[in-house]
Amino acid sequence: MDSRKIEILRKLREESKKGGGLDRIERQHKQGKLTARERIDLLLDPDSFIEFDEFVLHRATEFGMSERKYLGDGVVTGIGLIDGRPVAVYAQDFTVMGGSVGEMHAMKITKLLDLALELGIPVIGLNDSGGARIQEGVDSLKGYGELFYRNVLASGVIPQIVAIMGPCAGGAVYSPALSDFIIMTKKSFMFITGPKVVKAATGEEVTYEELGGPQVHAYYSGVAHFVAENDEDALNLIRKLLSYLPSNNMEDPPIIKSEDDPERMDYELDDIVPEDPESPYDMYDVIVRILDKDSFLEVHKFFAPNAIVGFGRLDGIPVGIVANQPKVLAGALDVNASDKIARFVLFCDAFNIPVITFVDVPGFLPGTAQEQAGIIRHGAKIIYAYSVSTVPKITVIVRKAYGGGYIAMSSRHLGADFVVAWPTAEIAVMGPQGAVEIIYKREIAKAENPEELVKKFTMEYREKFANPYVAASRGYIDKVIEPHETRPLLIKMLKILLSKRPLKPRVPKKHGVMPA
Ligand code: HXC
Repeated sequence: MDSRKIEILRKLREESKKGGGLDRIERQHKQGKLTARERIDLLLDPDSFIEFDEFVLHRATEFGMSERKYLGDGVVTGIGLIDGRPVAVYAQDFTVMGGSVGEMHAMKITKLLDLALELGIPVIGLNDSGGARIQEGVDSLKGYGELFYRNVLASGVIPQIVAIMGPCAGGAVYSPALSDFIIMTKKSFMFITGPKVVKAATGEEVTYEELGGPQVHAYYSGVAHFVAENDEDALNLIRKLLSYLPSNNMEDPPIIKSEDDPERMDYELDDIVPEDPESPYDMYDVIVRILDKDSFLEVHKFFAPNAIVGFGRLDGIPVGIVANQPKVLAGALDVNASDKIARFVLFCDAFNIPVITFVDVPGFLPGTAQEQAGIIRHGAKIIYAYSVSTVPKITVIVRKAYGGGYIAMSSRHLGADFVVAWPTAEIAVMGPQGAVEIIYKREIAKAENPEELVKKFTMEYREKFANPYVAASRGYIDKVIEPHETRPLLIKMLKILLSKRPLKPRVPKKHGVMPA
């Protein structure tokens, strides 16, 4: 071959690797951020990356764009391996025009998503971008629109994980928002309207951090599922998260060989629930003692901590964990906990991950604030999510299971496959105190010492209903077990349930309408 042809190719390749140039790469490093290619190298198995579209160029001419052409157009795309499994990955290059998204930049990502969908492999986005490339106007919006459309088509078919590793500004936030998991590094921020726009509109002075730093989205908005210390931490987290997930909705999640004994019984579980039913305890202790050692990966750790969701393993089999946390708001379900649980259950169902639910719920959180925030429509999401889900569902009632909370938290009535209760379970239509005040209203009003009477009736009510045996006598729960028996029993049942085929075919429909 003519050696000049090889020379040309080599030169172009070299040029495409330069991104926006050495000075901008240096600036990126000074900010404590890696470049797009460095991130991909750390994410993937060594030497596994096959890059696509290295020579793509934008086609814009206005605002001096003819002079600003960078090979690859500010995003690196391709396919590589994580633990030997193929994934599609794109990494926005902030050194090229701030990683801004123009027509061709977007085309590279949408092309990748189309391929990932066809191949049935996860998509990982490493975002670091100033948003829509302003110089490209409506072509840039078209690019985003086509990307969002693909995010929706891919939803529930292939896992979509996005790490935000720098700015994620304006409408750009909606691609991550349409994906399954968002990881934010401490150097990142996400907002719809930036500080300047906020100031112009409201006069309010705010920083990037206050508007959309990881604290905001991990604790308050719930937009971020994970916070990572830095780029490296985020990339490790992606690898770990993927280890629980199948590559697509037609596969089962990967089973690994567990080091933990499936027959292990933890006798400390027998004393974990305090004798006083009003005393809290930490539901994490219950979860981690039952799962395979060190297998729990919590999702949405800081958001709505009155509920716990995350992935774990039982004898190496990936499971989704949902639980109430009695340590926070007594484990009551509020609007945020409802959203957190419903979305997680739907994710698990879409990707064939069995759901184990640990229940200790006094009910939905009362009060005007919750009513105004829409606890009715948010709470309904939990019921909807468990009811539509056909993956194996196992429920462990640890303590309280009152009223709507009992039904919503994966009760037999919403299609749970196996429901067990500990002897500490209290399953009733409502909590003893409230129930007594209603059913004995007249007697209490007439009493000389109403407080004493309330105490007496409460004790009686508790004796009668605050146990698992009424529900067991109706067959609403399948078994009352000693807490230390939980791990071996869950593992046995889980293995049996893996061959589950839902018995009742559902009425065909386009899709349901989830309360929102
Ligand atoms: C074109 C952009 C850009 C953008 C940044 N750049 N954002 N170019 N379009 N949206 C370019 C800058 O001109 C600069 O080019 C380089 O990227 C680095 O930007 P700096 O401002 O120097 O970096 P920094 O100080 O770190 O600030 C980063 C930033 C800021 C916070 C992201 O650039 C910023 O606020 N950008 C605009 C963000 C925004 O409002 N986006 C919304 C776009 S409209 P040079 O050549 O000097 O290196 C939108 C509508 C909806 O999103 C979208 C559809 C869904």
